Formats: sequence, C-alpha cells, structure tokens
Amino acid sequence: MHIGIAGTGNMGSAIARRLLAAGHDVTVWNRTAARVQPLLEAGACAAGSPAVLAAGPDLVISVLADQALEEVYFGEDGLLSGDPGGRLFIDMSPAAAATQRRMGERVTAAGGRYLECAPLGDAAAATQGGLVGLAGGDAWDVESARALLDQLCRRLEHVGGCGAGAAAVRAGMRAGEPALGTPASIR
Ligand SMILES: NC(=O)c1ccc[n+]([C@@H]2O[C@H](COP(=O)([O-])OP(=O)(O)OC[C@H]3O[C@@H](n4cnc5c(N)ncnc54)[C@H](OP(=O)(O)O)[C@@H]3O)[C@@H](O)[C@H]2O)c1
Repeated sequence: MHIGIAGTGNMGSAIARRLLAAGHDVTVWNRTAARVQPLLEAGACAAGSPAVLAAGPDLVISVLADQALEEVYFGEDGLLSGDPGGRLFIDMSPAAAATQRRMGERVTAAGGRYLECAPLGDAAAATQGGLVGLAGGDAWDVESARALLDQLCRRLEHVGGCGAGAAAVRAGMRAGEPALGTPASIR
C-alpha cells in the first residue's frame, strides 16, 4: 500500500517507521523539512507540501499538533486543496472531540473520507505496533482501514462517529482506565 503521512514529529515518525518496516511505500510531509531526513534514509519519500502529499497515496494519515490540523487540511496547499477523489484520511493526533466532528464534516463535504483513530500509547509503542486505537467515523471506513491500523495497534475499537475517539480517550484518562493502556499525554 502507498501511505502518505502528514506530520513527522515523534509520533508521526514512529508510525512512518512501523509502516516502512511492514513493507508499505511511505511518503511524508512535515512543516519543518529537516525533520523528515531520518525517514528518507529509512526508505520514505518526501512531498513538498500537503497538497502534493495527498495527490498520490492510497490513504493519508495525519499526526499533528491539535492546532495545526485544520490548517494542514484546509489551508493554502493543504491536503484538501486538490480533489480528494473519495480518498480516506485518518487522523491520529488526537484533537478535541468538537474539532474531530468538524473535521469529519468538512472533509466529507470536500469529497474525502475521514476517520479519527485516537491513539493511546507512546512513540515506542507505535514503532512496535502496540498502540490502542479508538476509532471514530463510519463503520465502513473503519473496516476498510482495519488491516492497516492493525499493523499500528494491538487493539482497535470503533467507538462511534467522528469525535467519539477523542471523547473516549479523555473519558478513559479521567477514569484512569487501565485496560486502555497509558495515554501519551499523561505519560
Ligand atoms: N508522542 C506521543 O507519545 C503521542 C502519543 C499519542 C498522541 N500524541 C499526539 O500526537 C500529536 C503529535 O505528537 P508528537 O509527540 O509527535 O508531537 P511533536 O513531536 O511535537 O510533533 C508535532 C507535529 O505537528 C506539527 N505541527 C505543529 N504545528 C504545526 C503547524 N502550525 N503547521 C504544521 N505542522 C505543525 C509539527 O511540525 P514541526 O516538526 O514543523 O514542528 C510536528 O510534525 C499531538 O497531538 C500529541 O498529543 C502523541
């Protein structure tokens, strides 16, 4: 599979490395270009903008700081500035539930498909495929992405529509839910 990754911070880089190790073609974009260099040395290709990144792959995974999400998708040269042609976008940031609901509506309105997969676990867990993924979005999109997400997640749960993953992460954090693993944000 050819996978685009927008955002190669700690978590995005770990996800890229895991997918490269699983044999996928991986193209990456990051605002700070120097940060993709170790991934290029590991076999990834670089895209010069989110728009270029979104043009080629079978699907795109975004792993961004919450406040960057809408800008990277809908800004000038954003992921959605071209015709998404029904392509699936999976966000693993995780942003707030309200942001994820809005993202789902906006990406769908622009002709794409959108799934949030809120991750529990840190970058080391991602490198080993050991995340717990709480997916929010259409059931059909979850199932179409399940084989891929199973390579990143030791457990993947579909918890509802867009926003439900982010809400479940926050609820689990409040409850100190041990079965869900350790959320990175309270690591
Ligand atoms: N690390 C973890 O263990 C972990 C686990 C679960 C969830 N998360 C979540 O995943 C997200 C990323 O975490 P991280 O640890 O990978 O953080 P990080 O290393 O700081 O990476 C943040 C990413 O967002 C990008 N970014 C920030 N502001 C931007 C902007 N205005 N425009 C475009 N790109 C922008 C950064 O690009 P630059 O390189 O250019 O700054 C970088 O690619 C966060 O929301 C975090 O809460 C992290």
